[in-house]
Amino acid sequence: MLVLGIESSCDDTSVALVDCSDKGHVIIAEKTASQIDVHAKYGGVVPEIAGRMHAEKIVPLIESVFAEATTDKGSDLKKPDVIAVTAGPGLITGLIVGVEAARTLSYAWDVPLVAVNHIAGHIHSVEIRNSKLETGDNLTTPYTLHPTPSIQFPALALVVSGGHTELIEMQSHTNFKIIGRTKDDAAGECFDKVAKLLGFPYPGGPHISKQAQTGKTDAILFPRPMLKEENYEFSFAGLKTAALYWLRDNKFGALADHPWKLPAGVFGQTPGEPTIHDFCASFEQAIVDVLVTKTVRAAEKIKPKSIILAGGVAANKKLRETLREAIAEQLPHSTLLIPELRYCMDNGAMIAVAGFYRAFKKEWTACTQVPVNPNWRVDHTI
Ligand code: KG4
Ligand code: ZN
Repeated sequence: MLVLGIESSCDDTSVALVDCSDKGHVIIAEKTASQIDVHAKYGGVVPEIAGRMHAEKIVPLIESVFAEATTDKGSDLKKPDVIAVTAGPGLITGLIVGVEAARTLSYAWDVPLVAVNHIAGHIHSVEIRNSKLETGDNLTTPYTLHPTPSIQFPALALVVSGGHTELIEMQSHTNFKIIGRTKDDAAGECFDKVAKLLGFPYPGGPHISKQAQTGKTDAILFPRPMLKEENYEFSFAGLKTAALYWLRDNKFGALADHPWKLPAGVFGQTPGEPTIHDFCASFEQAIVDVLVTKTVRAAEKIKPKSIILAGGVAANKKLRETLREAIAEQLPHSTLLIPELRYCMDNGAMIAVAGFYRAFKKEWTACTQVPVNPNWRVDHTI
C-alpha cells in the first residue's frame, strides 16, 4: 500500500511516500522543509509565521516527492493508494494547512484519507525503513538493535518532544492508553527554556546535550521532580525554575568573549567551580533520571514486549544510552526500539506508517469532514 504522509503540526513541513505492508515500511521518497532558522530569531515557534510557511511549502514538497519517486522507480507515479495527514495535536495554524492539502488531494485523486494523531506518528517512527540510509555510512542506530523493527504487543512508548512527555501503553498499533504525562512543561520544552537562559538558539535541547558531553553529571544537584511518587506522571517546571535560580545565585564572572553570550556567572573560572559543561551535564542527567526511572517502573507493571522511545528528545544520546542500559539490566524480556536519529524529529514518513495501520482497518476519514484538533489525545477519538 503506497501511503502519502503529510505532517505540518509544528515547525517542519514534511511529506513522504512510503511503501507500507505487514512486512515493513520502506520510504520511497521524502522531503522536509524546516522553519527552525526563521523561528530561532524569535526564540520559539511563532504560530502565524509557521502557518504561512507551511502554506508556501506544502505543494512544492508534494510535487517534489512525486518527482523523486518517479525518477527512482522509473515509472510515472501519479497518486498514492492512501493519504495520511496529521490532524492533531499541534499548532492549529499548521494543522489546517496540512489537512486542507490532504482533503483537496483526496477529492481530486479520489484516494481515501486517514486522519493521524501526531503522537501515534512518533511512536510508529521506530518502524520506518530507509534503504538509502541502511546502505550508507550515516546510520546512527544500527539495525542490529532491532533487526526487524516492528512493534510487538503489549508495548510501552515514551514519547518525549517539545510539546509532549507521555507514557503510553499499547495493545495494538491503533490501541493507545496514556498512563502518565507531564503536568506542566514537556521535557523538550524544559531543555529549550533552560538553553534559552544560557543564550543558546532555539531549539536548545541539542546544544545542552552537546555541552553536557564533557561535563560532570554530579556537579550540581538538580531536583528529580516526582521521581519518588508511585505514578507515571511527570513535571518539569520546577526543574526549569531550579536551573534558573542556580544561574541567578552562582555568578562567577563570565568570560567576556564567550561565544554563547552567557549570562554573567555561568562559566567556572577557578578550579572546582562548575563549568557550563557541568551545568548542562547535571541538568540533562536530572531529566534523563526521571524519564528512565518512570519508564522502567511502568514497564515492570505492563511487562511490554517492545519499549519504544520516540519524539524529538529521543535524539538525546544520554537518554538513549541510559534507557538501553536500564532495559538490558532490569527488563531482559523487553526489546527497546528507538528511531533512527532523523526520524526522531517530526516527519511525514511516521505519519504515513501510523496512517497505514488505520487504513488497514479501514478507519477512513471523509474528505468533506476532516476535523482538526490541536489538543487531540492519542487515546481519544478526534
Ligand atoms: O518531536 P519534535 O521534532 O517536535 C515536537 O513535536 O515538539 O521535538 C523537538 C524537541 C525540541 O524541544 C528539541 O530541543 C528537542 O526535541 N531535542 C532534544 C535533542 N534533539 C532535539 N532535546 C535534548 N537533546 C537532544 N539531543
Ligand atoms: Zn513531534
